[in-house]
Amino acid sequence: MATPSTTAPEPTGLDRFAVRICESLASLLDQPLENLILERPRQESLGEFALPCFRFVEKGGNPAALAKRLAKEMEVDSVQANAVGPFLNFRVDASALAGAILADAPSPHYGGGHRTGTILVEFSSPNIAKPMHVGHLRSTLIGATLARLGDLLGHNVIRINHLGDWGSQFGKLVAGWNLWGDETKLEANPIGHLLDIYVRFHKEEKELGLAAAAKKAFQELESGENNATRMLWQRFTELSLGEFQKTYDRLGTSFDFVRGESWYENQLEPLLSWLEEAGILETSEGATIINLESQGLDVPCLVRTAHGTTLYATRDLAAARSRWQEFQFDAALYVVGSEQNLHFRQFPAALKLAGCDWADRIEHVPFGLIRLLEGTLSTREGRVLTLAEVLDRAVDLAGNIIQEKNPELANRDAVAEQVGIGAVVFHDLKHQRQKEVVFDWKEVLSFEGDTGPYLQYTHARCCSILRKANRPAPDTAGINPELLADSRELMVAIGRFPQVVRETFDKREPALLAQYLLRLAGVANGFYRDRRVLGAGKGLEDARLCAMDLIRRTLNSGLGLLGVPSPEEM
Ligand code: ARG
Repeated sequence: MATPSTTAPEPTGLDRFAVRICESLASLLDQPLENLILERPRQESLGEFALPCFRFVEKGGNPAALAKRLAKEMEVDSVQANAVGPFLNFRVDASALAGAILADAPSPHYGGGHRTGTILVEFSSPNIAKPMHVGHLRSTLIGATLARLGDLLGHNVIRINHLGDWGSQFGKLVAGWNLWGDETKLEANPIGHLLDIYVRFHKEEKELGLAAAAKKAFQELESGENNATRMLWQRFTELSLGEFQKTYDRLGTSFDFVRGESWYENQLEPLLSWLEEAGILETSEGATIINLESQGLDVPCLVRTAHGTTLYATRDLAAARSRWQEFQFDAALYVVGSEQNLHFRQFPAALKLAGCDWADRIEHVPFGLIRLLEGTLSTREGRVLTLAEVLDRAVDLAGNIIQEKNPELANRDAVAEQVGIGAVVFHDLKHQRQKEVVFDWKEVLSFEGDTGPYLQYTHARCCSILRKANRPAPDTAGINPELLADSRELMVAIGRFPQVVRETFDKREPALLAQYLLRLAGVANGFYRDRRVLGAGKGLEDARLCAMDLIRRTLNSGLGLLGVPSPEEM
C-alpha cells in the first residue's frame, strides 16, 4: 500500500485514516513517514490496515511486544489498534468511516490525485495491412486503462500508437499488389485483401522469382521520394487505420499520437551516427550490432543487417530517443506482449550503454497470451476470428441474453453493444496481466459470476432502485452517518477506491481494479438484499438511497477506468 500522503494532499475515503495512523506511528516509532507502509490484514474481520512490526525491532528483538506497546500508546481518533502477534491491526469506527464516505465519494474526482509526472503510454500498435489480433486487443485494453488511471491521478499522460508500418514486408506487399491488386476488393475489405496478397506473395515468391521486385519496392519506399510505391504504401496505411479506428471507436480508445515506425525513418541515420560516436557499434558478419554483455545480456542488439537495412530495434531506439527529446518523460510504458521480453531488455540496455540515464525510465509492461478454448474464437471454416468479428459475436450473444431477460427493454441494440463489448473488455482485464487468458464465450458473457455483465447488472440494479424512489438522490451532506454504521463492509469497500486506483496504476495491474469491483458489487448486492431501502422510514431511506447512489457512482467510475460502459438499464 503506497503511502497516501505523497500522492493526494487531501486524503479521501479510507486514506484519511491511513494518513493519521501513519503520522501517529511515525512519531511513536521515531521513523520518517515514508518508512511506514501499511498493509491489508489477512482477514477483513481484523480491520482495514495492518502494520507488520518485524521491521521496527532490532535484531533479536520482540515484534509482538512492540505491537502490544504500540496498541496501548496509539491514540488516533476513531481508530482502534489491536495487537495480534507481531502485527498491529487497525479498525476504523463505522460511523466515522461512513462520515468520510458521505463527504468524499460523491465527488467525480473521488480516487483522483495530484501527481505531476509526464507518463508516456505506448499501446495497441497493430501492424498495417494485417488484422488486429487478440494480442493487440490486450495491449489496447491494458494500455488504455493505465492511461485513464494516470489521468485520474493527475499525471500528464501521453498516448502513443506505434503502428507497425515499416520494414521489408511492405516491399513484398507492394510487389504483390502490382501483380494481383484489385481496387474493388481493396475498397470493400482493405485489410482482408492486403492480407490475401501478402499470403499469396509468400506462396508464389520462389516460383515466380518475386524477391527482386520486393527488394526494389522497399528501396523505393526507403528512398524517401514521393514515388508511386510510397503513395501506395500511404494508401494502405490510411485504409488500415480506418479499419482500426472502427475498433478503437467501439472500445472508446483514443491516442494523442498515431506514429508508426515510419515516422522515425529520417532519424535512423542520425541515430546510427550517434551510436557510432558513442563507440558501441560493432561489425559482425557484415551486420552492425551492439554487444550487450556488459549489460548482462548475451544476445546482441542488431541495428543494421548485412544488406544495409534497419530493423525493428533500430526504429525503437530512434523512437525512444526522439520521445525523450520531445517529452522528457518520467516514465515510458510500453504495453506489449511478453513474447517481446528480450527485445524490451535489449534496446533500453543499448541506450544505457550509449550513456542515456533516462533509459531506466523505459518500462516494458508485458502481458500473457489469450488462449482460445477449442473452437470458440474460430469461424466455422476454421479461420481465426478477427477482433471485429469477436466483438460482433459478443454483441449478438449479449442481445440474445438481454432479449430473454428483459424483453421490454427499449434501446436493446445500444445496450447489447455496451454489454457485449463490456463483457469482452472485462474478461480480458480481470486476469493478472502476465497470466494466460483462456477465452470461453459462455464464461465471458455470463450474467453471474466474475464477469462484466454481472457488474453492469449490479450498477443497473442500483439505478433502478434510485429510479423507483422517484426523486433525486438525497444530498449526502444532510445524512447522519450513524444510519450507515450497520453497513461497515460497504463503507470499507467504497472507502478503498482511492487506494485501489493508486495500486492498480503503480503496479500496472488492471486486474486489481477489476477484482476490487467484483468485491464491491458482491458487498453491494448483500447490502440491498439484506436491507430495505425504499420504505425504510424517512431518515433511513435517505441514508440508504445515498449509499445506493455511492455504489452506483463508484462502480461507474471503476468500470469507466477499465473501459467498460455502465448502462442504466439492461
Ligand atoms: N507492431 C508490433 C507488433 O504487432 C508491436 C509494437 C510494439 N511497440 C514497440 N515499440 N516495439 O508486434
